[in-house]
Amino acid sequence: MVLGIYGSPRKAGNTDLMLDAFLEGAQAAGGEINKLYVRELEIRGCLGCGHCDKAGECIQKDDMQIVYPLLERAQRIVVASPIYFYGITAQLKLLVDRAQALYMKRELARKGGEVVSERPKRKGFLLLAGATRGKRLFECSMLTVKYFFDAVGVHPSGELCFREIEERGAILRHPKAIEACLQAGRDFFTNP
Ligand SMILES: Cc1cc2nc3c(=O)[nH]c(=O)nc-3n(C[C@H](O)[C@H](O)[C@H](O)COP(=O)(O)O)c2cc1C
Repeated sequence: MVLGIYGSPRKAGNTDLMLDAFLEGAQAAGGEINKLYVRELEIRGCLGCGHCDKAGECIQKDDMQIVYPLLERAQRIVVASPIYFYGITAQLKLLVDRAQALYMKRELARKGGEVVSERPKRKGFLLLAGATRGKRLFECSMLTVKYFFDAVGVHPSGELCFREIEERGAILRHPKAIEACLQAGRDFFTNP
């Protein structure tokens, strides 16, 4: 299953269009698709309470109960976000922080001597768009999502980042962006 996580609060915005194309490509290549819109989820912030260190699960019960099983089951995870103040959106960051519980779950299993099956074929991909041209525009988000992928046990396999994309739909005027997302989605599903 290919899980697409839509990180923008803006409906039908640039990263929605990018991820739609990416998932269309993955689906055309034979992938089963699951779409998750963070703007539709009620996710509270991590409390840093340490409960998951001992219990291997989060003490808070909210829409992360929908998200956790999807993160664990997906063979492929693709995350899309606009750049907000040089990072991912706050809504997506709430989800990322709460993934700490999955990391702790695996750590506890490992420490308990359970053979945690490393699943090398699980892969992650990142799509980003920002309005400006800064050289370091995507650095912060790339690091955040790299370690998110690490926490959920998937291997980062690439990213597509577009600069100077501002108003809703601006990505459609970029000559190659949507085609590149479509192709990346096909490859993402097809390549091991
Ligand atoms: C609150 C806010 C903060 C933003 N911060 C940045 C920024 O730091 N750098 C940048 O290049 N663009 C920034 N942008 C512009 C968005 O990244 C850009 O419009 C993007 O294409 C929106 O994608 P979307 O349509 O998928 O929401 C910001 C936009 C908003 C609303």
